[in-house]
Order: sequence, then structure tokens, then C-alpha cells
Amino acid sequence: MTTPSPWLVRSATDRLRPTPFTAFDVGAAVAAYDRLVAVFDGRARVQYAVKARPDRALMTALVRRGGALDVASPGEIQQALDAGCPPEDIACSNAFADARELAFAREKGVVVFTADSTAMVERLATVCPGASVFVRVAHEHTTGAAQPLVGRFGCGEGEAVRLGLLAVRSGLRMAGLTWHVGSQQHDPAQWERAIARAARITRRIHRHGVTVEHLNLGGGLPGTYRTNVPPVEAYARTILTAVDRCFPHPRQPRLVLEPGRAVVADAGITVSSVKAVVDRPCGTYVVLDAGLWNAGLLDNLGGIEYRVTFPGHPEGVATRPVTLCGPTCDSLDTFTTDGVYQAPLALAPGDRAVIWSTGAYCSTSTLVGFNGYPPVPEHVHVPPGEDADGPPDGAREP
Ligand SMILES: Cc1ncc(COP(=O)(O)O)c(C=O)c1O
Repeated sequence: MTTPSPWLVRSATDRLRPTPFTAFDVGAAVAAYDRLVAVFDGRARVQYAVKARPDRALMTALVRRGGALDVASPGEIQQALDAGCPPEDIACSNAFADARELAFAREKGVVVFTADSTAMVERLATVCPGASVFVRVAHEHTTGAAQPLVGRFGCGEGEAVRLGLLAVRSGLRMAGLTWHVGSQQHDPAQWERAIARAARITRRIHRHGVTVEHLNLGGGLPGTYRTNVPPVEAYARTILTAVDRCFPHPRQPRLVLEPGRAVVADAGITVSSVKAVVDRPCGTYVVLDAGLWNAGLLDNLGGIEYRVTFPGHPEGVATRPVTLCGPTCDSLDTFTTDGVYQAPLALAPGDRAVIWSTGAYCSTSTLVGFNGYPPVPEHVHVPPGEDADGPPDGAREP
């Protein structure tokens, strides 16, 4: 489990700041990035998946450290450029990007794309001639992932070979293979499976004299939620061992990691207050002022259970099972449908509840005002030196 940064711990217990609010520590996210680079022995370039949290100061800091950025849309391309990312370090991984979106990318100088269909290879050859293409391979296994990316994403082995060769015949460059083993992936062995498959595809492509230059290992590395996961070192060990076994030197492709969650999840928290504690025949409901819609806690719908603590109540006090809910009058605004949270028996309206590891996929997932509840305000801490155009003391407040 990642230890929260001192700034996050202070924010979690800040009684003066009105709730609800989100606190995000750019320094903690940068530290998570540095740790990933280190545990992978510097062998993998980290290409941060901007969709997890397009924080400008964070993107700038990662690019300064030699990182790249993974984007999906013109909006994210612009965010990456605005953060100072050179266009050649922006990879557009949306295999459904249309001609208008691709033309935008080309005009901005983006040269790396993903394809998993003939139509996309042909579109790239027409709109972005000479571009580099990653062929996305399907990972049709749901094992271990809170949010599997199956069905819509990626092609089978034979098709990957065909698309790679088609790309080269169409004047594109075969940048490599990419996949995603599912978000919040608990099982490092899923990468072993994906790497073995990539090796089979690579051997078949090599027979045609085409080199597979990179393996993009995708996202999926976990954040710290209620279900325990192996330490990131275990993932790195499994992945690097599988790469060395399946891709003997000297023809080893260069490695790319594409984490979103693992960089930002643990760098954010959401601080809320209890609005009501309601006893019903079917159980006790605790209504918080932060929830699915106003705090973007959409992972509540996606197989993830946030850790929630109640700072006014010491650890070890008597608790009871409750269902946690957000503030809207909406049945979906509930913390998991099957997980049961324990809350102190003495919990009362006005008490604080801290929702941990809300740094990923929340800031851009809030609704603009569902049920009249505006998105929760965000407080972002930027360590001195990490924000080129930020205030000198490093604190950036909304
Ligand atoms: C193509 C791609 N890469 C990387 C990611 C980041 O995934 P994660 O947040 O699980 O690391 C995603 C997220 O869905 C994605 O679609």
C-alpha cells in the first residue's frame, strides 16, 4: 500500500476547509511515476495515460523527466501540447479516431497512433502518411481486472500480423504491439500471457522482414483501494522476466508502460461530511456530501471499492455495516452495490469521511451539476519547481 503524502494527510484532517473537496498532490503523482521508472530498472519508458487525470503541472513534470503522454482525442492532444509535451512524445491510442481527429493530430505534429482494424490502418495511411502505428492486440480475459477492456478493443493474433504487414505496405511504420490487460489488474500473470502472445505475433511478423520495435505493456497497474494488490515490484519482476524469456537479446523490443491509475490514484483524496445516518429495515445508510456524480467517483460502478475512513473516530471503535451513498437522489449514487462498509456506531451528521485514492478518473468524470450539485472543488498541491507558470509557493488553488 502506498503511504499518503504529508500534504494529503494534512488535507484529510483539515477541519477548516468546507466539504466536499478533492485534494490532489502533484508531488505524490510524480513520486509514483519515479517509482515505476525505478522498479522497471529504467527499461520501460513511461507514457502516462492522460485520461486518468489531465493535470497540466503533472504532465509538465513527467515530460521534464523524460516521460511521454498517451492521449485519445484532439482535446487531450491540446492539453498535452499546452503542458509542453513535444508532439513526437504524444501517442494517440484511440483506434477509432476519425479522419477529422487524425487530421488535427497530424497538423499538431503527432506521429504515433494505434490501429486494430483494416479501416483504421487505411485511414492512417490516407490522413497521416508515414506515421508510426502500434497494432493493438485484444486481451480477451477478464481475470484479475476490476475493469476488463475486452470486446471492443484490439484484434486477434492472426489479424495483428496481417495489420502490421498492411501498415508497412501502406507506407506506415510498424512501431510495435500494444494491449491492455484491464484496469486495476490484480494479477501480474496476465502480462505474462499477453507478452507470450506478443512474442508469437512478433515472430510471424519478423518472417516478413518487418521489425517490431516496441512493446507497449499498456495500463492496468493498480491503485490502493480496499482489495489488496501485490506491490508494484512484483508486477515489474513478473513483466521483465516474461519479456526476457519471450524476447531473447539482441532483438528485444523497447518497452513502454502506459499507466494512468498507478500514477495518480493514490495522489488524490476526497473529503466529505456525513449528511445523514438513516436506519431502515434493510440496513443503515450513511449519506455523504460527495458521491458518484459530484465527485466523479464513477469507479463505484466499475468494480472498485474506495477505502473510506472517518477521522473524528479513533481506529478500533465499535462499528456497524452501512451502505455509503452520495448526496443526490439517485439510486446509482451508492458506494458499490455489493461491498459493505463499516462505520463507527457513533457516526453522526457533520462528521467527516475521507475517501482515499480518488486521484484517477474522478476529476474529469464529475457531472456539471446533476441534481443541482456542482462538481466538488479541487485543491491541487504543486511542489515548488514542478509548475513552470504556477505561483512561487507551489500551491495552486481553484
Ligand atoms: C489505451 C489505454 N492506455 C492506458 C490506459 C490506462 O489504464 P490504467 O489507468 O488502468 O493504467 C487506458 C485506460 O483505459 C487506455 O485505454
